[in-house]
This record gives sequence, structure tokens and C-alpha cells, in this order.
Amino acid sequence: MNIQHHFSLKNYNTFGIEAFAQAFTAVTSVNELKEVLENQKDIFVLGGGSNMLLTQDIHKLVVHVALKGIEIVAENEDFVWAKANAGENWHEFVLWCIEHNFGGLENLSLIPGNVGTTPIQNIGAYGKEIKDSLFSCEAIAIETLENRTFSNEECHFGYRESIFKNDLKNQYIITSVIFKLTKHNHVLNTSYGAIDAELAKMNITDPTIKDVSDAVIAIRSSKLPNPKELGNSGSFFKNPIIAKEQYEKAIVHFPDMPHYKVSETEVKVPAGWLIEQAGFKGKRFGHAGIHKNQALVLVNYGNATGQEILEVSQNIQKTIFEQFGIAIEAEVNII
Ligand code: EPU
Repeated sequence: MNIQHHFSLKNYNTFGIEAFAQAFTAVTSVNELKEVLENQKDIFVLGGGSNMLLTQDIHKLVVHVALKGIEIVAENEDFVWAKANAGENWHEFVLWCIEHNFGGLENLSLIPGNVGTTPIQNIGAYGKEIKDSLFSCEAIAIETLENRTFSNEECHFGYRESIFKNDLKNQYIITSVIFKLTKHNHVLNTSYGAIDAELAKMNITDPTIKDVSDAVIAIRSSKLPNPKELGNSGSFFKNPIIAKEQYEKAIVHFPDMPHYKVSETEVKVPAGWLIEQAGFKGKRFGHAGIHKNQALVLVNYGNATGQEILEVSQNIQKTIFEQFGIAIEAEVNII
């Protein structure tokens, strides 16, 4: 086990924040991971670093899960069960699925991060969430080192939610995920407005899964900053879910407010719209700012500290609450 001390995490978080781990190790096998856990339970687990804001140094052993490998574990005439280890890059895995003509994940192209962290927040985009294709995931209990397989139902998925963020927070490390994917008769979901428009622009009337993936890549590239060029963590906030009555009161004052029905009693309002209306889109505060093409994304112009970005996010939350009476919650983990 190779442990490094006072290790910079700048290249290990997509916000590109300079913060230090007291100690750092990368594990490339389940056995190595168990060896680490036998010696130390009070650890900080790091996947792709794409959904966190480091506001301080980490005074713990940071364990970077770098388990690699993709394999087909079962198949029948119609479906394939593909397993990816936790340290695989998510987008590379999606591209592997598309190359093999395995359908289900194409709408989730180009999402930053690693496979092992995707179930934790049930990543989603353009009308699909990981829960729609996830068959199961394997994890190790930090306390007992036991392996446990979680079925889709046992993950208790919700909008950017799972059991791993709630009841079982910090108790398991996900080591691999199995997806159930289609081999033919792919069920395409292009209903999300922007995808249909992008396909039309590409002159495609009978899209393949590759076409849908290409359309999503084009949309994301035009709206969302590439973390390699401009540090960011995707959507910083969740879209708030509010009571229907509250929405009905709000539209009297803000008739253009978009909304999506969640249930008979609740609607979801796009936080990006609220932030743009409040005048934050494209604004810069020191080294931190709000992206010019998507107000949900906070960016690091190079030398921002986590604290600076946190302050911008708190300023946005406060203003939105004052103007709209709506509380918006961070989607990223604030460390
Ligand atoms: N909007 C604005 N201004 C903005 C951004 C959005 O007015 O600056 C409005 C749009 O006009 C539209 C609505 O908000 O009416 C929704 O916008 P968009 O389709 O861009 O999606 P979003 O709700 O802002 C969510 C996800 C994204 C995902 C997209 C596409 C959350 C928190 N975010 O954003 O996920 O890519 O939908 O499906 O649910 C992520 O989680 O990191 C992420 C990027």
C-alpha cells in the first residue's frame, strides 16, 4: 500500500480546488481496499471528485477508488448485463456500451465522474436516470469488510438521492455496478426537448443510440463547461420541489416560471431559471462565478478557494429565498 502525505487534491476534484489530504492512497483492487480498511476505518472515500466542493483540507486518509475493468457477466437474446468497476470513468463506460450497441445509457453521455459514485446520487440527464438501467451494485461494508450486493430496489433511488446518501451514508464503498442493457429494440428517450431539436439539426429522423449520445454530447458541450478547461461540478444546486399551492401563488407574480409536475401535490421548478432571473447568470465574484450558459453551474476561474465558491452559493440561496420564497439546496457535497 503506497501512502502519500500532505497530498494535493487539486487534480482529484473537478472544481480544481487546491486542498490537501493528510494522507492519500489509491486502491486498484478489492483486496487492496480491504487491506486499507483493516488498518483504518476513519477514511474519506474519493471517486471521480466530480460532485464535491472542498472548503478545507481533509485531516484523514483519503482513499481513491481506482478499481478498473468492464465485463459482460450475463446475456440472453435481448439483454446484456454489463459490469463496470467503480474506478472506470463514467463517460468512457457509456462510450464502450455504445460501441457494443448496448442501449440504455446514451442520454447519460458526458457526465463527469466515475462509475462507482453514479448510484450515490442517481445521476440523471435528458429524461433518464441511472436507476432506469442499474441492475445491482456491489459494495464493501467499511466496518465489517463484508461484501454486499444491492438490488435496484434496495438502493432506494430518488431524484439525485439513494440509500448511500441517507440511511447508509459513509457505511459502504461501492466497488462495481451492473447495468441491464438492451441488445436491440432499444428504447430511445428523445422526448426531452433539446434532444429532438439537436437530432433535427443533425438531419436524423431514425436515430440510433449513437446518434442520441452524439446529440447529448453536442448539447452538453454547448451549455456545460468542460471541467478540464473551467473548474466546475455540474449542477451545483438541485431543482427545488415545491408544493403546488406555493407554485400557484408564485406564478401570480412570475407568470413565466417554468415547472414540471412531480406528483398531484408537488412541482419541480428549474433552479437555473430562478438564478438567471435573480441576475446571477454569467456574474463573477473574485475567482468564482456563475456560468454564462447554465446558471446552475458554479465555476472556478482558476484560483478560487472552496470557501469563495461556498460564499457565492450562499449568496445565491439567500437571494432566491428573498425574491421567490423558494429554498434551493446544494446538490454537490460540501466538504
Ligand atoms: N434555465 C434557465 N436559465 C439557465 C438554465 C436553465 O432559464 O441558466 C431553464 C431552461 O430554460 C429550462 C429549465 O431551466 O426551462 C431547465 O434547464 P435544463 O434543461 O438546462 O436543465 P436543468 O434543470 O437546469 C437538469 C440537471 C442537469 C442535466 C439537465 C438536462 C439537475 C440539478 N440538473 O438541469 O444535470 O444535465 O437537467 O437533463 O437536475 C448535473 O446534475 O450536474 C447536471 C448537469
